[in-house]
Amino acid sequence: MNTLLLKNNENDIEKAGEILSGGGLVAIPTETVYGLAANALDGNAVAKIFKAKGRPADNPLIVHIADFEDIKKFSLVSEIPEKAYKLAKAFWSGPLTIIMPKGSAVPEEVSAGLSTVAIRFPSHKTAQAVIKAACCPLAAPSANISGSPSPTTAAHVISDMNGKIDAVLDGGECSVGLESTVITLATPKPKLLRPGGITVGEIEKVIGEIDVDDAVLNQLKKGEKASSPGMKYKHYSPNAEVILVASGDEQYIDFVNSKNSGDVAALCYEDDEKYIGVKCYVLGKKGDYKAQAHKLFKKLREIDKNPEIKTVYARCPETSGVGMAVYNRLVRAAGFEVINLEKV
Ligand code: TXA
Ligand code: MG
Repeated sequence: MNTLLLKNNENDIEKAGEILSGGGLVAIPTETVYGLAANALDGNAVAKIFKAKGRPADNPLIVHIADFEDIKKFSLVSEIPEKAYKLAKAFWSGPLTIIMPKGSAVPEEVSAGLSTVAIRFPSHKTAQAVIKAACCPLAAPSANISGSPSPTTAAHVISDMNGKIDAVLDGGECSVGLESTVITLATPKPKLLRPGGITVGEIEKVIGEIDVDDAVLNQLKKGEKASSPGMKYKHYSPNAEVILVASGDEQYIDFVNSKNSGDVAALCYEDDEKYIGVKCYVLGKKGDYKAQAHKLFKKLREIDKNPEIKTVYARCPETSGVGMAVYNRLVRAAGFEVINLEKV
């Protein structure tokens, strides 16, 4: 299949809409990461997403809308919980996904057999325009091959998906850089399933206390059931081995320098690189989690491009605010391997 490269203009947005309403696949920009979109109401179109990504069939997809009213208009949920209205008012459009009881129009392929459905209203104007042009809600996981870092540029999408999908719409670099925050309202108490650009603290200001699923920060135990199927799969896995290093600045620098060899790299904070003798990939300023979130997947992909690197020692972020999302992605990339120098 020849994958069309579409531009961010009216004509090409129309073209993307036509491909999608005709049952095809188009990768589209959102404010979080690029999504691989199909008509969410067409089970056959959605099935193609799983094939192109190599995604396990039991991992459900997020349905993207361009207007709150789309939820009712397309019978996407069976009931809109009171707290969903509050969350939508505070955070939509934006990088928050809300899980609700599934509606009659949602095909099995989208919900992967669950009784719930995940809904997101992206703030990216091009994403909204494509949804409107397609005249249907769009099911869209991140547009990467399952298991590789989510794409934050059209070039990342092409490197994973060229020849496998109908088109990629190039809308430039994604601003957030990590996937949306996912919260379920289908449990008695709202529960965070995936941290993202919208933080626990921001959500609690709007709907009161929420739970944070254990698997957000910890490894699922053997045989434990995942609240969100995506939690149980290996994620964001670069070719090199990633190891998180929890320590102070000087300890980290000394530790990495003690490993000084050609096949080691550091995924570090700004200024660390001045004192480190191995190849450095700079995530951003220490404590500036938004900047780190924006760059994380890009840096993991850059590391993948250097076959000489066998081990990456990454700084371990705090788990507060957006740091929770950066930690969540990094610790998965590291297969939960963390060296705690304070404890050694
Ligand atoms: O920012 C984002 O959310 C991006 C952009 C494209 O919108 N999309 C994205 O989709 O990250 P994906 O498929 O890569 O991640 C969706 C996550 C998966 O871990 C999936 O298991 C979970 O959401 N999920 C989807 N529907 C669910 C449901 N009904 N119940 C529990 N988890 C669900
Ligand atoms: Mg994904």
